[in-house]
This record gives sequence, C-alpha cells and structure tokens, in this order.
Amino acid sequence: MMKMHAGQVVDRFRVGGDDVTLRLPRRADVQDLRFFINALVDEGERILLQGRVSLVEERRWLDRHFKSMREGTELCLCIDIGGRVVGTISIRREYTPPTASDHVATLGFGLLRPYRRRGIMAAAIPRALAFGQQAWGLEIITSSYAADNEASSRLHRRLGFRAHGKVPGGMRYRGRYIDHILVHRQVRRKK
Ligand SMILES: CC(C)(COP(=O)(O)OP(=O)(O)OC[C@H]1O[C@@H](n2cnc3c(N)ncnc32)[C@H](O)[C@@H]1OP(=O)(O)O)[C@@H](O)C(=O)NCCC(=O)NCCS
Repeated sequence: MMKMHAGQVVDRFRVGGDDVTLRLPRRADVQDLRFFINALVDEGERILLQGRVSLVEERRWLDRHFKSMREGTELCLCIDIGGRVVGTISIRREYTPPTASDHVATLGFGLLRPYRRRGIMAAAIPRALAFGQQAWGLEIITSSYAADNEASSRLHRRLGFRAHGKVPGGMRYRGRYIDHILVHRQVRRKK
C-alpha cells in the first residue's frame, strides 16, 4: 500500500482564477475543517451530517480519520486555496483487502459557498479518484445524493456517474423525506 502522510500534496491545479492544492489533512486544519462542516450544516445543505460539531468532536473526527487513513478505509482530501481548507472530498472503503469488494469505494464532497460554481469540484474530483486508484487500486466508485440536489446531480452526471437505483425516502431533512439517488462509475486503470 502507498505510504501517506499528513499534509501530503496529492495534486496542484489552476481553475478559473484559483490556485488549488489537493492534499491530505493535517492536525492544524482542525479549525478550518470545523468551520467548513458547520457552514454546510448551517446552510441546511443536503449532506449526511445534520448537527453542528464542536472543536473537541472535530479533533476526535480528525484523529479517527488519521487512523482510517492508515487502515486504508478512508481518505479525506482537503481542497486548499490560499492556505485555507475550503472543501473536502472523501473516499471511503467499506471492504479492505483481501475481500471481493476491496476495489470499490464511496465518494462524498462539499465546498464552502463562496467557492462554488467555478468548476473547482469538477476539476478536483477526477484528481482525487486518480489518487484513490493509485493508492488503493480502486476500480469502481459509488456515490449518492438527495433527489433535489441539483448541483450534485449535475456534477455527478458531468463526471460520468450513472444512476443504478434509488432508495425512496432514503434521506430525511428536517422531517421531510427525499429520495436518495444511487450512482456509480468506473475509475480507469493505469496502464
Ligand atoms: C455540489 C457542489 C460540491 C458542487 O461543486 P462546484 O465546485 O460548485 O461544482 P462545479 O462548479 O464544478 O460545477 C459542476 C457542475 O454542476 C453544476 N452546478 C454546480 N452548482 C450548481 C447549482 N447550484 N445548480 C445547478 N447546477 C450546478 C455546474 O453547472 C456544472 O454542471 P455543467 O458541467 O453541466 O455545467 C457544491 O454545490 C456543494 O458543496 N454543495 C453543498 C454540499 C453538497 O451538496 N455536497 C454533495 C452531497 S451529495
């Protein structure tokens, strides 16, 4: 398995006017990561987490994440612009080697509102998946979104994800049930 370390740079790229660094998290990111996740929670965005997190909880999450990274079950890539974490892309693997589904992982992502609609995620996700492919030999990526999340739906389509089903009422936001759309795509093997 590829060696990874806190803060490791995965890729750097320019999109629009932004210089973006895609990298692994480090302990010093805890405040940025907490701000990020709470901003999404406050917005009422269609994400899984539905409650704000404290600094202590975020520290715990980061500790768990470093452990998951070592165990090969989760990669959280930070989208760093100007030294600040403004978004994340997570790749989670339910089954680790040697299992029949250790080539499959699940994607999750989000970006602070001021950075949206600039093409950042469309550029960052393929790079994150290429890293996952290289690090863990991933071949299939699954993902999902709330049926009324237009941004996520368009982004998944643009990135070549195809729907394979839905869980009717599989997401519940503030007491309202929304269908959960399930999608997947292949990640190309390196020759
Ligand atoms: C979903 C999200 C990550 C998109 O990131 P982004 O960097 O703004 O997306 P991009 O600028 O790369 O746009 C990619 C595509 O999505 C479309 N899109 C982005 N935001 C959109 C919106 N609010 N409404 C409709 N389409 C939108 C773009 O037009 C583009 O589609 P196109 O290629 O067909 O033109 C961002 O809106 C976000 O963080 N939302 C809150 C969290 C969330 O919903 N996460 C996903 C949970 S499954």
